Order: sequence, then structure tokens, then C-alpha cells
Amino acid sequence: MSTPSLASGPQGPHALRPLLDTVLHALHDGTQARGGPLPAGGPEAVAARVRDAVGDVLPDEGEPDALRLLVHALAEGAADPAHPLCAAHLHCPPLAVATAADLAASALNPSLDSWDQAPAASELEALVTRALAQETGAADALVTTGGTESNQLALLLARETHGPGVRLVHGANAHHSLPRAAWLLGLPDPVVVPTPTGTLDPTALARALTTLPGPPGSLVVAATAGTTDAGLIDPLPEIAALCRAHHARLHIDAAYGAGLLFSDRHRTRLTGLDAAHTITLDLHKLGWQPVAAGLLTVKDPHDLAALDQHADYLNADDDTDAGLPDLLGRSLRTSRRPDVLKIAVTLKTLGRTGLGTLVDQVCDHARTLADLIHDHPGLDLYAQPTISTVLFRPAGATDDTVAAVRRHLLTHGRAVLGRTHLDGRLWLKATLLNPHTRPDDLAGLLKLVEGTTPR
Ligand SMILES: Cc1ncc(COP(=O)(O)O)c(C=O)c1O
Repeated sequence: MSTPSLASGPQGPHALRPLLDTVLHALHDGTQARGGPLPAGGPEAVAARVRDAVGDVLPDEGEPDALRLLVHALAEGAADPAHPLCAAHLHCPPLAVATAADLAASALNPSLDSWDQAPAASELEALVTRALAQETGAADALVTTGGTESNQLALLLARETHGPGVRLVHGANAHHSLPRAAWLLGLPDPVVVPTPTGTLDPTALARALTTLPGPPGSLVVAATAGTTDAGLIDPLPEIAALCRAHHARLHIDAAYGAGLLFSDRHRTRLTGLDAAHTITLDLHKLGWQPVAAGLLTVKDPHDLAALDQHADYLNADDDTDAGLPDLLGRSLRTSRRPDVLKIAVTLKTLGRTGLGTLVDQVCDHARTLADLIHDHPGLDLYAQPTISTVLFRPAGATDDTVAAVRRHLLTHGRAVLGRTHLDGRLWLKATLLNPHTRPDDLAGLLKLVEGTTPR
């Protein structure tokens, strides 16, 4: 075999063109072979097909057709968020333009740990993070791998600003990554405020803040704008006022909900967001980016000093004094992909109006689905949606039946729905993130659920 071609450099585009053709054909053929939102047959059958397609993972001699074979296998075996019946998780169908930009990021491979590996990418990241921080009322933002890393960094900055005794107070509705981050960072056990209605109750929070001991700044309250299970938004202005009154730090996990900022119709739901010291936002949720596209916005840029780091090969003092930007303090990672490129391309291609329209569309779809469920005698609706999550269940079904319906749809490759316990019952969860979904698709989804439920 001759030396394999490289993706960048003068010959890069020439080498990539036929390979891209192979990839695009394999994506097309694999998707056709699947024929639905996910592969049929359940884990055993899917794993067997993948094993057959892959064969020897590291053969002695290379397989020239490997690109086609493996892309086909992955596409055939994908849970495809671009299929309207793939609606379980905060797992969005990426925009074609963002995915194309990601290809350029892979080809150029800038690494954002030093300016000499990313001269233009570092400036692009500075521009985009500043602009997105401003959108949320913050001063600066870091690019992260997603909500989990953003939540970890938020607690790390709180700990470094207020000391190792800082204690997390969060609703029972918070994402699991928050208490996990507290554990990782060696913080005291978090205080969990029950959320029987699905959102953080200011009265219960006030009680907790009043009774918890400690000096100002010793508590960090985490509120959620867009809960994972139901897409609910905590009462942010009331929570912000309580944090102010009790000198508590406020982190808002808006991993899901922050996308509402792009919509004129929906952005007021995030009133109070700008009071937060730190905000988690994920554009691989309500932002139509391929993973990863996370951000953490920071109100006080001084908090970021906690991340300052010196490694002579990356940010020697004399280089920094001579004007080379010091990037090492922008992350806990060292080598770092320019995830900002696809974000920048998307923001500029669609503009606020284009992104806002996508947000409005998925929120409208959720309303339509909720109305269909409400009018259906065989289905119960949990509540009208706040963002684009709709919870429902077959009327009168046991939790075991609800779970079995979901698994039947999954293993038969018919639909991907999520599940969540609320109100002491198990609900099916549809998280609608596909702007191309049509009302007929939603009616078809309900028919499938109805047809799968034993009478
Ligand atoms: C509210 C919330 N925060 C954080 C996360 C974690 O995000 P990621 O999976 O990008 O780490 C999620 C994931 O669904 C989420 O719903």
C-alpha cells in the first residue's frame, strides 16, 4: 500500500473528494437498508450485524473498502435523529451545513491549546464565545464537550472562588451530572430540594437557604432551564432573587433551554437567566449541531483565573508577553477540537431569524403532538409542553405496560421514545427536535403506540 493521503495541505481536498463520495453513498445506502428510525432486531441482532460487517478489527493487511463498509454498517445500525419517529432524547439531527463545517475542522485539525496550532481558530473561538456570552448577559464563555463538562466547570469555578466547602443546592429535577460533579470535585454532599411539581419551588428553596449554615458564597444553587425529563423551566427570576438575598451563587443549567434565546416568541421564558454567575448551554441540543457543541458562560471573567495554567511548550511567558494568545486557561483539556467552527458557520448561515424559526417549529410540533394526545381517548397527556418535550402514556396502562410498549417499538425498529418517572408513574417521552417533522408523522407515532399497547 502506498503512503495514505493526508486531509489537509494542497493535496488534501483532492484526496478527500472521492472518499467523500464513498461516504455519502454509504450513508445513503446504509440509511436505505435500515428503512426506519433505528435498526430492527434489538441489541443482539444489531451487534451481530456490526460484527459481521467489521470482521477483523486490525487485520494484518489493510482493507481498501473499509470506509464504505464501516460507514454503511454505522448508518444501517444508527438511531437516526433525522427520522421523525426518533424522538427519545435531547439528541438532535445535525444541520448539513454544521456537519460540513465539522469536516473542515477535522481536515485542518487546529488544536486550541496553543496559538501556534490554531492561529485563526483561536480568534474565531474568541469572537463566538464573546457573542454567545453577550446573548446570555454574561462576559465570557468557554467551549466544552457538553452539559456534563459545563456543569463540572461551573462547580469548579464556584469552588475556586468560594473555597472547598462550597455546597451545591439543586432541585430533584436537576441533571445527574451536577451531583456527580460535586462528588468529583470533593464538595460536601449536595442538598436536594424536592420538586414534586417538576420545577424548583421557591418556597422550598427559601427554606433550604435559610436553614443551611455557612458564610456568604458558601452555597451554589443550580437551577434548570429545560429539564431533561420534561423540558420544564425553573422559576428563574424568583430563584435569582433568593440567591441574591441569601448571598448564594447561582448556576443555571440551560443545556436544553438556552436555544430559546434565538426565538422572539420564546426567549422571554428565559427571563432571569442573566442573573446567573454561570450558565450551561448546549448547541448539540436545541442548536442542531453534531456533538460536541457545549458552552459555559461566565458572568465575572475573573472567575476564569482559576483555570490559569502554565506549560512552557504551550504558553511560555515570553511568548505571551510578545502577544501570542494564551489558550491553556480556556479549558481543562489540552488538545482541543475547534468545535466552534460549526457553531460559527451555523450562526452566520442561519442568523438569529433562521435559528429562531427552527426553535419555533419544534415548539409548535410539541404543541401539535400534545393536542393530538389530549384529544385521543386512549392516551393521557402529562401536561402541555414548555419547550419541545411531550410526556404521555396509554390510558389505564400499568408502568410495566408502558415500559414494554417502548421496548417493543425499539426492538422492532419502529420508533425511538424515551421514558421518565413523574407523578409516581412511568411516562413515554417524545423530545421533538426535528424541524422537518410533519403533523402526519406525529399522528403516525401515536398510532404505533396505540397499536402496540395490549388491550
Ligand atoms: C439539563 C441537562 N444538563 C446537562 C446535560 C448533559 O449534557 P451532555 O450530554 O451534553 O453532557 C443534559 C443531557 O441531556 C441535560 O438534559
